[in-house]
Amino acid sequence: MAAIKILSMLLTMLLLTKTSKMSEGLRYFVGLCDLYAQAERRSSRAARALREFAGLRQGDCLALVLGNEPAYVWLWLGLAKLGCAMACLNCNIRAKSLLHCFQCSGAKVLLAGPELKSAIEEILPSLKEQNVRVFYLSRTSDTDGVDSFLDKMESVSDEPTPQSWRSNVTFKSAALYIYTSGTTGLPKAAMITHERIMIACGLATASKITSEDIIYTTLPLYHSAALLLGLHGCIMQGATLVLRSKFSATHFWDDCRKYKVTVIQYIGEVLRYLYNDRDHRVRLAIGNGLRGDVWREFVKRFGNIRIFEFYASTEGNVAFVNYTEKIGAVGRVNCFHKKIIQYELIRYDVEKDEPIRDENGYCIKAPVGEPGLLICKISQFAPFTGYAGAKSQTEKKKLRDVFQKGDLYFNSGDLLVIDQDNFIYFHDRVGDTFRWKGENVATTEVADILGLVDFVQEVNVYGVPVPGHEGRIGMASIRLMEGCEFSGEKMYKHVQDYLPTYARPRFIRIQDIIEVTGTFKYRKVQLVEQGFNPAVVKDVLYFLDNKEKMYVLMTPAIYDSIQNHSIRL
Ligand SMILES: *[C@@H]1O[C@H](CO)[C@@H](O)[C@H](O)[C@H]1NC(C)=O
Ligand SMILES: *[C@@H]1O[C@H](CO)[C@@H](O)[C@H](O)[C@H]1NC(C)=O
Ligand SMILES: *[C@@H]1O[C@H](CO)[C@@H](O)[C@H](O)[C@H]1NC(C)=O
Repeated sequence: MAAIKILSMLLTMLLLTKTSKMSEGLRYFVGLCDLYAQAERRSSRAARALREFAGLRQGDCLALVLGNEPAYVWLWLGLAKLGCAMACLNCNIRAKSLLHCFQCSGAKVLLAGPELKSAIEEILPSLKEQNVRVFYLSRTSDTDGVDSFLDKMESVSDEPTPQSWRSNVTFKSAALYIYTSGTTGLPKAAMITHERIMIACGLATASKITSEDIIYTTLPLYHSAALLLGLHGCIMQGATLVLRSKFSATHFWDDCRKYKVTVIQYIGEVLRYLYNDRDHRVRLAIGNGLRGDVWREFVKRFGNIRIFEFYASTEGNVAFVNYTEKIGAVGRVNCFHKKIIQYELIRYDVEKDEPIRDENGYCIKAPVGEPGLLICKISQFAPFTGYAGAKSQTEKKKLRDVFQKGDLYFNSGDLLVIDQDNFIYFHDRVGDTFRWKGENVATTEVADILGLVDFVQEVNVYGVPVPGHEGRIGMASIRLMEGCEFSGEKMYKHVQDYLPTYARPRFIRIQDIIEVTGTFKYRKVQLVEQGFNPAVVKDVLYFLDNKEKMYVLMTPAIYDSIQNHSIRL
C-alpha cells in the first residue's frame, strides 16, 4: 500500500515539475503524446468516467484493445488511479483468440478503438452473454450494445482523484496483463504486478535515459517493450515520448529529424529494413534481437549510436543487458548477479521438445559454447507470478526436480549460449513457438485456425528460417480431407480474416501423412530443415502471394526471388 502511494506520489511530482519546466522537448510532446500536466488531467477524467459510467472499482480489470495513440497513456494512468488493472489486448487478433484473451484477464469492461468495430461486433454476442460492458473510444456509437466513452470522459471533472479509490493497492497487486504466446495453445495473460513495473524501470535507468531525451517508439504498446520500457521508462525519467502507430522504414529517419529524437527502441527484425542514414541526433538504441552481423553494420549505416541490447521476457524472472562491448552478446555472466538470480543453461532435446535428463532423472548443464535452455530458479528475488486464469499454463512454465529433488525453476523457452569468455548470446526459441517480425507465433493457435477450413483434415505448423531475416516465417503442412482439393483463394481469405499478418503461414505443404512422435507430438525438425525449397520438397507447395491475393503454386522462380530479395517477405 505504501509502495503504491510512493509510486503515485512520484508520478504526481513528475507531472508537477514537468509543467513548470517547459523544455524544448516537451513542446514536441504536444500533439503526439500531450504534455505531462495534460496527461495528468486527462487520466483523472478517464478514472472518473470509468468509475461513474463503467462501474469500475479497485481490484477490477478493464481490457483495452487500441492501437498506439496518446489515449493509451492516460487510460493506463487513469486505471492506475482507480486501482484497476489493464489487460493489453493485441489489436491484430480476432474472433476466438480475441475472446479468449479478453476472458482470461477476468475483465468486466472492454474498451476498444472505434476502428476495431467489426472485430468487436464479431464477438459481441458472446460478450453480452457474460454481461460485459463494451465501449468505443469515440463520442458516438452506432453498434447496438456498445456505448461511447469519449463523451463520458468530457462530462466529468479533471480534478485529482482521491487516494481512497486505490487504498487497497499494494506492490503485489495486478497492474497489467500482457499477453505472450506460450509454447502451447492460445496466448496467455502474464500478470504484471506494480513491483514488476518498478523493476522494469531499472532498464530505463541503466540505459541512462535522461529528462532531456526524446524517445521514439513504433513498437506496439500492448507489448512490454513499448509499454514498460518505452512509455513507463519515459515517465520515470521525465523524458519525452514520440509515439508512432506503426513502424515505417520510409518515415523512420524523417521522424527522428522532425522530432529531434535522441533514443530509439528497436527489435532486431526492423533494423535491417532501415535505410542508411547518419543525419540525425539519435545517440542510443534500446532493444533486443539484434544479430551480430547487423550489429557490426549498424555503426557504418546509422552513425555513432550506442546500442543497449537486452534479453528479457514479459513474464520471465531473469534478464540480461549488454553492459559489455561485445558485439552480438546480450550480456555476460556476472558472479554477483548470478548469486542472486540463479540461472543455468541446460541441455535440451529439440526433437522431443524437452530437457535431457541423466540416469537419475536430473537435468544436465549445457557445456560451454553449446546452446542450452535458459532456466532460472524461482525465488523471492526472481519471482514468477504466472498467468491469469491458467493454472496449468503457469505450471507448464515451471520445471521441477532440476538438479535436486524439489527444486523449482522457471523455463524461459529460449535457447542461449555462453562462450568461453562468459559472454551470453541468444540462440533460438524452443517448442511450439517461433518469432517473426518481433512477434511470437504459437503454432498450435495457427493450426487451430487453419483447421477450420473445410478441406483441411490435419495441420502441422512450424517456422522456417529465411536467409537475410531474423526469426522464422510461418509454414504449414496440411493433410487434405478425403476427396477434397486445396483452394488457394479460400485459404487466403481465411488466413486474411483470422490471423494477424505475422502469423499467416507464408508457405503451405500438402502431405499425405503427418508424422507424429512417440508421444503424439507433430514431428517438425525435418520439415523445418527441408523448408520451402521446391528442389528439396517433393510434395506440392504453395506460396501466399499478396499481389494475387491467394496461395499460388510455389515455383523455382519464386524461390529464387525470395533468395535474392526481389520478393520481400
Ligand atoms: C479492501 O480489501 C479488503 C479486504 O480484501 C476489503 O474487505 C475491502 O472492502 C477493500 N476496500 C475497498 C475500498 O475496496
Ligand atoms: C553494447 O555493445 C555495443 C557494441 O559494442 C556498445 O557500443 C554499447 O556501448 C554496449 N552497451 C552498453 C550499455 O554498454
Ligand atoms: C531474382 O530472381 C528472379 C527469379 O530467378 C529473377 O527474375 C530476378 O531478376 C532476380 N532479381 C535480382 C535482383 O537478381
